[in-house]
Amino acid sequence: MSKIRNIVILTGAGISAESGLATFRGPGGLWEGHRVEDVCTPEALAHDPELVHGFYDARRAALATAAPNAAHVALARLDAEWPGDLLIVTQNVDDLHERAGATRVLHMHGELRSALCALCGVRTEWSDDLPPGEPCPNCDAPALRPDIVFFGEMPYQMERIEQALADADLFVSIGTSGAVYPAAGFVQGARAYGADTLELNLEASAGSAYFAATRLGPASKLVPEWVDAMLA
Ligand code: APR
Repeated sequence: MSKIRNIVILTGAGISAESGLATFRGPGGLWEGHRVEDVCTPEALAHDPELVHGFYDARRAALATAAPNAAHVALARLDAEWPGDLLIVTQNVDDLHERAGATRVLHMHGELRSALCALCGVRTEWSDDLPPGEPCPNCDAPALRPDIVFFGEMPYQMERIEQALADADLFVSIGTSGAVYPAAGFVQGARAYGADTLELNLEASAGSAYFAATRLGPASKLVPEWVDAMLA
């Protein structure tokens, strides 16, 4: 463990599954009930803003009944106690990492509890329903939208992520299917820069072959075990 200083952790919907938040793919997944094209593209937002805003209102409301699980709590402990660089890059738009106490968190696909002004780009903390046409508190344009990166849009803070991967000694992926790029390619980038790689997931993923090691099981069990070993 001594040679590891800088850690990048990628999380996906699987880390929040045991908190009761639906994943996207697999039985009961969000994409089982909705077509991505209907609720998670710029075209969908333009074509049917009521449907898109309503989809995210329902997911935002679900946050009120979800709580961080042992995996989020363990990562927050690692974040607090790890002396080197550490960055939790999450594909999730929930706030469970923060509610568990993590601070070094980057939401590359946006956040449910944020509204983005499509005109001036200013973000506003938002916890209630967000109807289409809500005025922006900064520029007053009726242009607030969910602060979610839709398919076809650029994920947030990619340069910061790429720099963290270049500096990483260890890259750990937790609860993601490896189905969506650029996140799915992070393991290959980290390996190219010489980082060790570990996957913690309920089942083998599309990216498992790229990892030096894969451990299969629920995040609420695997993540605390891994954090205990890192901090031992
Ligand atoms: N513990 C660990 N892993 C789990 C658990 C669990 N309790 N439950 C499910 N998983 C795993 C599944 O096996 C699956 O590999 O989590 C993964 C969830 O995969 P997806 O539903 O595809 O979610 P994710 O990988 O986060 O999707 C990536 O796709 O639709 C877009 O923007 C969306 O951010 C999302 C991105």
